[in-house]
Amino acid sequence: MNTKPSTVAKGIILAGGTATRLRPLTNITNKHLLPIGRKPMIYYPIEKMTGAGIEDILIVTGVDHMGDVVGLLGSGKDFNCRFTYKVQDQAGGIAQALSLAEDFSNSVPVAVILGDNIFEDSMKPYLEKYLKQKKGAHILLKPVQDPQRFGVAEVKGDKVISIEEKPKIPKSDLAVTGIYFYDGEVFDIIRTLKPSGRGELEITDVNNEYIRRGIMSWSRMDGWWSDAGTFESLSYVQKLVEDNPPK
Ligand code: G1P
Repeated sequence: MNTKPSTVAKGIILAGGTATRLRPLTNITNKHLLPIGRKPMIYYPIEKMTGAGIEDILIVTGVDHMGDVVGLLGSGKDFNCRFTYKVQDQAGGIAQALSLAEDFSNSVPVAVILGDNIFEDSMKPYLEKYLKQKKGAHILLKPVQDPQRFGVAEVKGDKVISIEEKPKIPKSDLAVTGIYFYDGEVFDIIRTLKPSGRGELEITDVNNEYIRRGIMSWSRMDGWWSDAGTFESLSYVQKLVEDNPPK
């Protein structure tokens, strides 16, 4: 049996959803094509992947704007990587979008970034730390002022004990960012999920299953991090990118 940890990972950028919170900006385009600083939003996660040495990147988006996404990004040669594209027919949640990546990943570990998560740190050291782990998952946590807007993690040492999705009374101020590292087991886990109250397959349920199996580790993000899914967070990110560009 080969127990040597993998030294490569593939990348997955989840860029679907309807982005109703950003209407009318998103009436005729995809949230991830909106400008942040001098680039379309989706360039940021792509550059995080390539900066971490990832060469194979899958982009998942909805049927409405796939043409524009492909028209913008092409084969990947301008980014020194290879893009694969998958259509998410309906907005069925982050875990459902991730399930479309099973053939692409082909049991190689994956780094997943939600396309509206913009952050300062290089992803390379986090990916390297994860790849030293022989199996399981790794998530990046960031202390925030408004944890009830996010998945919130409770930790003990280097283990994550629980994650609650958008709790009214958060157990900590540690938001679960939309940067996740998984092994090939993730697709079997997604197959066992049931839709949540909002009718979606939740990434928090995936993460809690890794926690239950005792193979979920975490790192604290050093630099700034924000999502960009609301008008407030979008203008906050604009300022962060301008003042302190991502590494
Ligand atoms: C999703 C996740 C949540 C996470 C957040 C990060 O929330 O469900 O756990 O904290 O992304 O951006 P959503 O933006 O879909 O509400």
